Amino acid sequence: MSEATTAGPAEGQPLSLWLATTGATDFPVLHGTVEVDVAVIGGGIAGLTAALALKRSGRSVAVLEAGRIGTGVTGHTTGKVTSLHRLAYTDLQRSHGTSAARVYGAANQAALEHIGRTVAAEDLSCGFRRVANYTFAAGPEALPEVRAEAGLAATLGLPSTFTTDVPLPFPVAGAVRFDGQAQIHAVQYLQGLAGKVDGGGSFVFERTRAVDLREGTPVTVAAATGTVLAGDAIVATNVPFGDHGRFESLCRPHRSYIVAAPVDTPPLDATFISADEPMHSLLTVRLDGTTYLLVGGGGHPADEQVDPAPRHAALARYARSHFGAGSVSYRWSTQDALPQDGLPYAGPLNPDSRHAFVITGLRKWGLTNGTAAALALADLLNGTPNAWAALFDSNRAPRRPTAQAAPRAGDSVSHTDSAARAADLAPGDGTVLDADGTSTACYRDEAGHVHAVSAVCTHLGCTVGFNRADRTWDCPCHGSRFDVDGKVIQGPATEDLPPRPVP
Ligand SMILES: Cc1cc2nc3c(=O)[nH]c(=O)nc-3n(C[C@H](O)[C@H](O)[C@H](O)COP(=O)(O)OP(=O)(O)OC[C@H]3O[C@@H](n4cnc5c(N)ncnc54)[C@H](O)[C@@H]3O)c2cc1C
Ligand code: FES
Repeated sequence: MSEATTAGPAEGQPLSLWLATTGATDFPVLHGTVEVDVAVIGGGIAGLTAALALKRSGRSVAVLEAGRIGTGVTGHTTGKVTSLHRLAYTDLQRSHGTSAARVYGAANQAALEHIGRTVAAEDLSCGFRRVANYTFAAGPEALPEVRAEAGLAATLGLPSTFTTDVPLPFPVAGAVRFDGQAQIHAVQYLQGLAGKVDGGGSFVFERTRAVDLREGTPVTVAAATGTVLAGDAIVATNVPFGDHGRFESLCRPHRSYIVAAPVDTPPLDATFISADEPMHSLLTVRLDGTTYLLVGGGGHPADEQVDPAPRHAALARYARSHFGAGSVSYRWSTQDALPQDGLPYAGPLNPDSRHAFVITGLRKWGLTNGTAAALALADLLNGTPNAWAALFDSNRAPRRPTAQAAPRAGDSVSHTDSAARAADLAPGDGTVLDADGTSTACYRDEAGHVHAVSAVCTHLGCTVGFNRADRTWDCPCHGSRFDVDGKVIQGPATEDLPPRPVP
């Protein structure tokens, strides 16, 4: 059997608050052949921002989204729209120098303002709210680095101050405050963007997974049900495909957890992240008459197979002890690509690509990094100069070796259980069983039915492991995720796990 949960029954629905409070979109599946100027693969913040910017500059676009708009990483975000990325400037100055840190800050400030302008100009209803954003030192240990970050960010021209007056309901030692930042309901924002992209010779297709991309004149993007022919293509699938494994060594998927619990207080006029460990990321939002506190944290490399229940339980305890929050309403987790040198990638998909481009490596700050990367690519395709395109260039030379090599194809990080049987599985649990030498991923649903699929990831053959919090099969190697029936939720895999007989 799989290892026991150590935190008792999990509280709340295993669903993102953002997805739980938004109806689904219903754009059509791609059928036949469509010709446009630019094919955009992926309906997250990166893809849709690029698509709308290109459409507004006079290009026709087609967005291909494998699932529904906003159901990827962006639909599981915390929702902070800010250029204050914990202690990023200290880190970037150290690794890339002051000028690179300045450009990164300017790119993210520009992205924040772009989102604000887009919400106003396109009349999008998505809870965009200006708030201050803080990186706080809970205790004296983190205070010097918080003070240093505040000073550095101010010299880089960012709206930064150091303060000991931090509007949290518990004492902290001090914080960096960035004024004029924002928070957003990211799913509503994406649905709004998609509505503006579709029409007038441009398209949004849902339930349309791109399975092949061929460069040429035109670029051909193939899905099971149709084809898009385009002058250029942008791969904005979070973890790219069609890159021949190039970004596997440049980025590592990193998972984090979030709980949303009701609080009895008015929404905070600020968002927060701690500089200390364990890190806590905090935001409040009022939705459908309830004020929710979101607490994020518990992060780890996605190739570490951890039991999510204790991580969610720790965040729930923090919400109660620090904010008096009630029982958790929603809990979820998601993962994003951490670039090895700390900078996003926006540029050619492969080193010699002329018409295929990529956005990835958004370092868990993709609401602004993804927006900035998308704007850089839109400018590149339009021949417009862009102040941060060179810094984000995907063809830049690697600056530092990868801290820890990602697991390689064929690795089996999760354990196959040859002694157990599907009959032993509790409802809601899953495990990988050895059935006559074949690894089979078995999940028992609440009605008692066992769902059995191959446990061999269709990307490069690692063995998937069961994620109890989200009830998904997650690959430890490069971040692919599958639902309990084997359907791809997150790439780079593009093919589903095939069904297997129940062992
Ligand atoms: C826990 C957590 C909290 C975060 N909080 C914040 C925050 O507060 N602020 C912030 O700025 N950033 C935050 N981030 C980071 C941010 O959410 C991400 O960087 C960003 O949402 C990624 O956007 P994306 O467009 O790259 O990916 P996605 O939103 O995943 O979009 C990619 C889309 O591509 C689709 N797709 C994949 N493969 C294919 C294919 N072959 N064909 C067609 N479609 C495909 C997917 O279905 C998906 O919808 C957070 C990250 C995590 C992990
Ligand atoms: S083997 Fe690469 S994501 Fe699974």
